[in-house]
Amino acid sequence: MGDKARAPRNRTLTLSASDVARLSPGLLTLDGPVGTAGCDGRTIHGDCSAILDYLPHRAFDLVIADPPYNMTKSFNGTVFNRVAAQDYEHWLRAWLTAVRERMTATASIYICSEWRTSSIVQSVAQDLFNVRNRITWEREKGRGANANWKNASEDIWFCTMSDDYVFNVESVKLKRRVLAPYRHQDGRPKDWQAGPEGDFRETHPSNLWTDLTVPFWSMPENTDHPTQKPEKLIAKLILASSRPGQLILDPFLGSGTTSVVAAKLGRRFVGIEIEREYCLLAERRLELAKHDPTIQGYVDGVFWDRNTLPPVPGRGSPVVQVDVDSQQMFELVPTG
Ligand SMILES: C[S@@+](CC[C@H](N)C(=O)[O-])C[C@H]1O[C@@H](n2cnc3c(N)ncnc32)[C@H](O)[C@@H]1O
Repeated sequence: MGDKARAPRNRTLTLSASDVARLSPGLLTLDGPVGTAGCDGRTIHGDCSAILDYLPHRAFDLVIADPPYNMTKSFNGTVFNRVAAQDYEHWLRAWLTAVRERMTATASIYICSEWRTSSIVQSVAQDLFNVRNRITWEREKGRGANANWKNASEDIWFCTMSDDYVFNVESVKLKRRVLAPYRHQDGRPKDWQAGPEGDFRETHPSNLWTDLTVPFWSMPENTDHPTQKPEKLIAKLILASSRPGQLILDPFLGSGTTSVVAAKLGRRFVGIEIEREYCLLAERRLELAKHDPTIQGYVDGVFWDRNTLPPVPGRGSPVVQVDVDSQQMFELVPTG
């Protein structure tokens, strides 16, 4: 994983031989039931279809599930093959039923999907949970198609166990630049604040998210995992739907984003991942998070709109643009 030739400014996180040796003993494997204390804060190496049965009942306050979508894709050499829609549904139902038994009566669950699998996820989720919403987020990056629309969005189904659930709307408001700053007749700003970094408004978050950028090579959170979610996206889910100290489960942990963001935001976590190398990446990211709890795009408790960075002291707020082809971030308009 660490052997590829990389550009000098490439910040992709890789594992050295000494990382592998140091982190391997920390992985948890299970062949029987475990209590909350036995799995809290751990990365479990294994197949969630088997591992879930060993986890404690009614223990998890939030679940973030980002399973392989129903498309043929290689995860570190292990190929997840596209199957018939009814087989994918059968598989979803089996592990989601096991997940449900592990959730508290007030828990929430977010299930990731893309257009092809979204309706299958909705149908299974409706049978098991209270479906509250479907978030659609723009990936921005996507492979162009000559005879179809470029696939550049994904869905996340938001469901709860009951009508009694956590939703901290204040913690997930979006800080957006005000282009037409209206004022009251007496000159006071209407619904926005003027500041040294420019004019901004904090808006209620909708179910359409266009403020994200998928991790790419010049971002320190980037790994070689092929479908890594942005930390900023997971931060929104965790902040909205859990309280500090609550326990979060991710049955398809991948490179560890859910555990890492949970740790950065003071939540407890358990992650399950079938690929050992990804488990180790998750552990490495958790190690780094202890020294650097920052989340790109989330600063001082505020989510900044895409391409809008927090102010640089003495320079105001730069407007930056991500060029999705070269994957470089550059400054467009220095303001302030
Ligand atoms: C879509 S990715 C998750 C990416 C993750 N959200 C991240 O930010 O890195 C799905 C992951 O599930 C893992 N996986 C597939 N089948 C699994 C299973 N049965 N049990 C546990 N993990 C599995 C794959 O190896 C892959 O890393």
